[in-house]
Amino acid sequence: MSTSERMASDKDRVVIFDTTLRDGEQSPGASMTLEEKLQIAQLLDEMGVDIIEAGFPIASNGDFEAVSEIAKLVKKAVVCGLARANPADIDRAGDAIRHSERRRIHTFIGTSPLHRQFQLALDQDAVHERVVSSVTRARNFTDDVEWSPMDATRTEPDFLCRTVESAIRCGATTINIPDTVGYASPAEFEELIKMLIERVPGADDVAFSTHCHNDLGLAVANSLAGVAGGARQIECSINGLGERAGNAALEEIVMAIRTRGDHFPYYTNIDTTMLMRASKLVSAASAFPVQYNKAIVGKNAFAHESGIHQDGMLKNAETYEIMRPEDVGVKASSLVMGKHSGRHAFRDKLTDLGFNLGDNALEDAFRRFKDLADRKKHIFDEDIEALVEDEMTQAGEAIRLVALTVIAGTGGSPKAIVTLDIDGEHVTKEATGDGPVDAMFTAIRSITPHEAKLQLYQVGAVTEDSDAQAEVSVRLGQGDRIVTGRGADTDTMIASAKAYVSAVNKLVGGQAGAKPAAKLKAV
Ligand code: KIV
Ligand code: ZN
Repeated sequence: MSTSERMASDKDRVVIFDTTLRDGEQSPGASMTLEEKLQIAQLLDEMGVDIIEAGFPIASNGDFEAVSEIAKLVKKAVVCGLARANPADIDRAGDAIRHSERRRIHTFIGTSPLHRQFQLALDQDAVHERVVSSVTRARNFTDDVEWSPMDATRTEPDFLCRTVESAIRCGATTINIPDTVGYASPAEFEELIKMLIERVPGADDVAFSTHCHNDLGLAVANSLAGVAGGARQIECSINGLGERAGNAALEEIVMAIRTRGDHFPYYTNIDTTMLMRASKLVSAASAFPVQYNKAIVGKNAFAHESGIHQDGMLKNAETYEIMRPEDVGVKASSLVMGKHSGRHAFRDKLTDLGFNLGDNALEDAFRRFKDLADRKKHIFDEDIEALVEDEMTQAGEAIRLVALTVIAGTGGSPKAIVTLDIDGEHVTKEATGDGPVDAMFTAIRSITPHEAKLQLYQVGAVTEDSDAQAEVSVRLGQGDRIVTGRGADTDTMIASAKAYVSAVNKLVGGQAGAKPAAKLKAV
């Protein structure tokens, strides 16, 4: 049985198609490394996502490799590759997903008058011909083919029906209806799906899907309206990451269905307790912060500040909470350990937090924890998470920060002296700058010459209080390559230097042992 046949046989199940790694990664600045994509794909699979759109294989060799590696890695979910309506795209997607036992090709073409005229310069018949040839070709690689009429919500209904009918006839098993520019309203979108299911011959034999963008803030509402209209697959992404204002947020869709079963009588297979972890992972990998008041996964989503609310919460949590924080994986922040905690307790805590480190990595992390405990009064779960993630990042890198001195203040130019280890050799340079961060980054640039421009420098505090660890993201862009590095430390300058060095490592493919010095000369 193909995925869509299984879907069609279960009328109340909403299939979750995650496009964080494709539409999400397409948002400017959100590009992720292969390692990050694999981590995200693994988590999505564990979480119960039904279909993972892993990338757009023709877009670059990196995208091809990511889709191909995800196809090898993922055990339960269907792995999907995106393709435009031409043979080269489809063949490349087919090649990228070939290692997956459950593979899908998602092919699309613009159908609206605007897309036909200005983007494709094709008339209706020519677009229709491409629908037929692309779906037919995709079926040579897999019997699980999804077809999308891009900008469907601004396409003439008759032409939309004609193309959908042909896609089904040529073997598409899922018909995805994109609101590409986030233009639809919920009532309109529900009607559109209903109309297609009623009018198009063969509609009952395929699954209908929604793909709603959030330009008017209606992506989640439109997706749920699409389900009311008969769709049983929703395309969405973690944190709503996606082109422009993003896509429908997976966590919002899943929790709306779960919390309002009276209104949305469906279910998904998602383990909701993993939502928070997924949100944090995607936010860290993309360096897109989650807004504090974001539904479900925002820092304040379960915080109660006002006296009246706090009073109500103490008497009965349901007075102001429609979901339990633990159901989405929000744990009460716990004060974990202090400087007297031993190795054993530290290892237990790591296991609790989902980290499984080898002996050497554990020893390094334990040393860092002791060091942190000397500098910071209270150590929380979040501190340990930041510390271990930072340790894991630095451990795999060939260029490493060895020493840093920053001099800044009200008199004179800020100055930084930086020592890096490159290929086992220590190199020290100093520089002045507009401010301490500028001085420090200039010094790092003079040790690791590169053309990339700083696109983002972002500092966050892991916990509260002035002794909190700083978590810094640095994004560098060179041509169409964008890389993001992260670093954490109680000293914001050290965290910043680590983040910059981590981004440079990514720029030159500087995993440990990769001999980056030669590559730096070529950058
Ligand atoms: O928004 C859109 O139309 C898309 C298609 C590729 C499905 O992302
Ligand atoms: Zn899209």
